[in-house]
Amino acid sequence: MIKIFNLNDVISIKDFQKKDIEFILKETENLEKVARSEETSEELAGKILGMMFFEPSTRTKLSFETAMKRLGGDCVGFAGSAASSVSKGETLADTSKMFESYSDAIVIRHNLEGTAKFITDVVDVPVINAGDGAGQHPTQTLLDLYTIKRNFDKIKGLNVALIGDLKYGRTVHSLAQALGMFDAKMSFVSPNELKMPKEILHDLEKCNVKFYETNKVKDIIDEVDVLYVTRIQKERFPDEEEYTKIKGAYLINKDLIKGKDLIVMHPLPRIDEIANDVDNTKYNKYFEQAFYGVPVRMAILKNIIRNKL
Ligand code: NCD
Repeated sequence: MIKIFNLNDVISIKDFQKKDIEFILKETENLEKVARSEETSEELAGKILGMMFFEPSTRTKLSFETAMKRLGGDCVGFAGSAASSVSKGETLADTSKMFESYSDAIVIRHNLEGTAKFITDVVDVPVINAGDGAGQHPTQTLLDLYTIKRNFDKIKGLNVALIGDLKYGRTVHSLAQALGMFDAKMSFVSPNELKMPKEILHDLEKCNVKFYETNKVKDIIDEVDVLYVTRIQKERFPDEEEYTKIKGAYLINKDLIKGKDLIVMHPLPRIDEIANDVDNTKYNKYFEQAFYGVPVRMAILKNIIRNKL
């Protein structure tokens, strides 16, 4: 049998080739009806997803659970390390071993970069990175790309501005690398203290991807198709005073975007960077984007669990 999707784990968006991403986006399209409960599926009946969520999560955790259940499977796991034996001093390796014996795949979110990769050396079941510190968030990127594709019918050539905390925000790290593969034009808008990390800029330069950096939204607002807004990642600041100085750096409101031809996206949660007056406008795509987390994660689970059969 020819395997179309060859990944055993989903750790970084850099593990994907463009054709793998295209395959997942196509699968997602086919699964939207199941995600909306207009069709049913038993493709993962009898399969169990293990969920190790050491950091807070609403959308990622719930959409993985919904995805698994809509495909006839089920989930086990914990949210918050206080709820697991890690709080008694158990090592991450031992906890992962337990999950391996109880489930068919593991989804992990952790505050330390590299954690998901680490457990791939400990367990034999597929591992999916649901966010590792300020590192990567590959499944979020797939749903971000799907949202863009769904709205514009293409990704190539679009002008996408990533705004906010580009230093600590993991969603923008994976997204910048993926948009590079799809020949989108990128602008990075952030306070000077929160610029896109040099390693990511080097990766883009190596692939001849052009990008523009600024700290002012007004420099890009007339040019962009997508405003991808992010929250300042308070929990990753070593010094709370530094956060206080920067918080509220950007506000996207109705007045700013009125009359422009663009969409507003956000991985959520939003704190104060998008005003509520954008919610009831045609610009708001962030809630639709959060829904796409379900069919995208169905596509990933279906293919990654099946790959191990
Ligand atoms: C993001 C995350 O956890 O990185 N949330 C999400 O998964 N939708 C963004 C954030 O927390 O700011």
